[in-house]
Amino acid sequence: MNIIKNKLDIFPKGDTANQPVIFIHGFPFDHNMWNNQIDELSSNYFCVSYDIRGLGQSPVADGQYTMEMFTDDVLDIIEKQKLYKPVLCGLSMGGYIAQRAVERNENLFSALILCDTKSAADNNDAKIKRAEGIKKINELGVKRFVEEFISNCFAEESISKLGEVYKETLNRSLNFSAEGIKGCLLAMAGRTDTTEFLSEIKIPVLLICGEKDKLTPRHIMEEMANSITDSEFHTIPNVGHITPLENPNTVNKIIKDFLSRKVKLKS
Ligand code: MLT
Repeated sequence: MNIIKNKLDIFPKGDTANQPVIFIHGFPFDHNMWNNQIDELSSNYFCVSYDIRGLGQSPVADGQYTMEMFTDDVLDIIEKQKLYKPVLCGLSMGGYIAQRAVERNENLFSALILCDTKSAADNNDAKIKRAEGIKKINELGVKRFVEEFISNCFAEESISKLGEVYKETLNRSLNFSAEGIKGCLLAMAGRTDTTEFLSEIKIPVLLICGEKDKLTPRHIMEEMANSITDSEFHTIPNVGHITPLENPNTVNKIIKDFLSRKVKLKS
């Protein structure tokens, strides 16, 4: 029986001859989180996004996932799509996956971009919160959990500013399955800690954090940046946890500038 190894849909954009960049979204979102970055970068980079197992259009299967499975999925995409030395770009849960992928095989990558994420594993309080989330889904349903979780991700002013974009993002997530969302919560609660690995990273790392990020506050990312040899850290003013959607222009500019300096474009 092949329950978990079924294929994930990937969403490539750009010329396959260009430098690949893989985008990994946060929880509980899907690949659309990166549309603004991919629209901007795909003229010079081969951009690949996908939906994490259990979310978006990817298979839910039995809903039992681990961070290692999520990491296997990225490594599998790199191998199957024959992506040579991709840049890995992840937000929050996507950042947990990206850090673990680099920890498992740094030689595969040319640079790392971490948005609104952390290296520490869940402490007891965070694990209890995950358990409360699962209870909420079981007792009150996906809608209640997702609405509360997502509204907490964005800065208040971003919600009104984004208008329809916020509504579309929320509506997509409201359709995700309870099993997929609960499976991701358990995978995050059980993930390893990558903090000690940060000082060993040799590839260039860009770190971006929203000034008003309540989930992964900027001092956490600043500390991460201080531990990494070749790192740069940027705070995006007036936005929360979902920086690529809340201020796409600034995030695009920072990413483009970092890539142009740190990753040699194929000619
Ligand atoms: C995310 O945005 O991916 C989540 O906030 C991560 C988490 O809950 O730890």
